[in-house]
Amino acid sequence: MEELIRSPHSLYGQLASPGDKSISHRAAILNSLAKGSARVTNLVLGADVQATLNCLQALGVTMELDTSQEAPLLNITGVGTGGLHEAGDVLNAANSGTTLRLLTGLLAAQPFLSFVSGDSSLRSRPMARLIHPLRLMGAEIWGRGGDSLAPLAIRGKRLQGIEYSLPVASAQLKSAILLAALFAEGSTTIIEPAPSRDHTERLLATMGATIEISGSLITLSPNSVPLTCLDIQVPGDISAAAYWLVAGTVHPNAQIQILNTGVNPTRTGVIDVLRAMGARIDMENQHFVGGEPVADLSVESSSLKGVEIRGPLIPRAIDELPIVALAACFAQGQTVIRDAGELRVKESDRIQTTIIELSRLGAKVEELPDGMIIYGGTPLKGATCSSHRDHRLAMTLGIAGLVAEGETVIQNAQVVAVSYPSFWRDLKSLAHD
Ligand code: S3P
Repeated sequence: MEELIRSPHSLYGQLASPGDKSISHRAAILNSLAKGSARVTNLVLGADVQATLNCLQALGVTMELDTSQEAPLLNITGVGTGGLHEAGDVLNAANSGTTLRLLTGLLAAQPFLSFVSGDSSLRSRPMARLIHPLRLMGAEIWGRGGDSLAPLAIRGKRLQGIEYSLPVASAQLKSAILLAALFAEGSTTIIEPAPSRDHTERLLATMGATIEISGSLITLSPNSVPLTCLDIQVPGDISAAAYWLVAGTVHPNAQIQILNTGVNPTRTGVIDVLRAMGARIDMENQHFVGGEPVADLSVESSSLKGVEIRGPLIPRAIDELPIVALAACFAQGQTVIRDAGELRVKESDRIQTTIIELSRLGAKVEELPDGMIIYGGTPLKGATCSSHRDHRLAMTLGIAGLVAEGETVIQNAQVVAVSYPSFWRDLKSLAHD
């Protein structure tokens, strides 16, 4: 499917971003393992979360989905400790790294055999970083490419807790180890090189696990299972809101409000970066929903200047860097993104694909091994662009179409459904001629 986007005279309106994808995965997985039953509201029913739900059902979890309302509702009955059973087929994580990595951690500790795989993008993403710590805990896992790529085969067994320093700030890796550790003998301590999203830790604590956070150390004590099922209202996804924040900032005639957005400090790097660039973003009505901070965000047209983005800010904005790169095209001066080598192993090599597509629109961008330099101030011109079947690139190009001169065509635009099924509808609802 292709989408054709033209720059509208103005961009205004109010919307709620879809439920947070990271929290949706975790709400489904952790409730599946817990005792009792739970209602999860506003989870995002993108392809990634759907893959997690399918895998959990294949492992014996009972759930019911009600999509009759705008915000989907999932009723889930936890199987409790030891309640999962061997799946009848390969578990298909589709395009979702979170599904594959979190489930591998969990399955490494279940007393049966599992196979997990995904689409061609996921089968090219690094898994050695996952297999290594799980093997240190005693897990038996094999993969293609010398145990570095999916499909993975997992023979679950009794694991031992470990003390482990993460080689990269990755919430998927951290969460996979925590899921394995829930069922291990002895406690597990993880040391993070920089803070990454902490939704797993927050949910585990609320659901009754004994988890202690002290600086960069996360310690999960034994006997943290059984967890207790928890009703969760999933906050809006700040990674989805980021597209509207940038659209509202760079369009010359814009005012947008995004309601009920999660503003967990491990995720708000994009707001910090855009504000440092000069974006006029307000945060109102801050409150907590199920242990996660939530707020209404508003944004209006702003003049931007280039900034340097590096260090601990990177994991706090990792999924938003392509859309930040677009914002940087509209800034005075240069924006430098460094320490972001992880972008190369996302759904696409996002350093390469972002540069290829922004350059097609006339942007001046230089590639660095671990980031890029964007030379701002050159107006963008519409062109036919490829999403590279990467949802975040498709959405970045959609926003580029709102501010480029002429027409922008985005090929394979349907991939937005991985995380934000109503993206194109929401975009059109904000655009006014
Ligand atoms: C995610 C963690 C991040 C992020 C991904 C979602 C999660 O990946 O890029 O979109 O839900 O834990 P890494 O853990 O690989 O950095």
